[in-house]
Amino acid sequence: MPKSVSLAESAVAVLETGPPRAKAAAARASAVAWRAGRIDRIGTAAPPGRPARPTRPDLRPPREVPRRRITSGANGRIALLHALAHIELNAIDLAFDIIARFSNDALPRTFFDDWIAVGDDEARHYLMLDDRLTELGAAYGDLAAHDGLWQAAVETSDDLLARLAIVPLVLEARGLDVTPPMIARLRVVGDNRSADLLQTIHDDEIRHVAAGVRWFRHVCDRRGLEPAATYRRLLRERFKGRLKPPFNRASRDAAGLTPEFYQPGAEHR
Ligand SMILES: [Fe+2]
Ligand SMILES: [Fe+2]
Repeated sequence: MPKSVSLAESAVAVLETGPPRAKAAAARASAVAWRAGRIDRIGTAAPPGRPARPTRPDLRPPREVPRRRITSGANGRIALLHALAHIELNAIDLAFDIIARFSNDALPRTFFDDWIAVGDDEARHYLMLDDRLTELGAAYGDLAAHDGLWQAAVETSDDLLARLAIVPLVLEARGLDVTPPMIARLRVVGDNRSADLLQTIHDDEIRHVAAGVRWFRHVCDRRGLEPAATYRRLLRERFKGRLKPPFNRASRDAAGLTPEFYQPGAEHR
């Protein structure tokens, strides 16, 4: 990577890489270059409206995406791992989009340290899941997937606070809720390898939600807003669904996402 590339330009290069494993490799290389100081400035760069993606999987409405029933037969587990690989591929783009899109928001260097670490994790998660799909005789792209995550990005592209509220603090937090039951179910059917992968992902995602909380609070502070009430307002304004209990209180607490954020919202909707 030439020395003159800024972090924002490097993030756009990740977004513009289509083949999934190449995107993941570019993400990981950016993180290495940033930590080593080879990328030595944040810079600014406009991210694409839609990141480059492979021609497969087909993107369909959620009801047309294969069901992910976890059984000892491989098909339901392949559908689950495929859906998770799709989420992680989106998550790579979401991390690098936040870096590029808000690169001129006068944020401290630690903001970029956090999101490049998230992007690096998401790339590692994608690669682990893609490897596991290969072991099961499948590949990312084999099944249909849905575009909900990128839609959430589009709908919050105008405001960092809205992006943080919806992406890490709704969608990634939801991952903390739903992953432990999947892990338990995978162990019941004897797929400890996939269960271990999901446990690693769950544990890493706590840090992602924690980064979301930290920067959500930072931006609220800068704008003189009360964080929990602002979160609930942004849910009403920017989120079409509703928060779905049961919440994983232990993992949410570990991320600093305390119940005053999500419990009142859940009651009133
Ligand atoms: Fe992830
Ligand atoms: Fe994540």
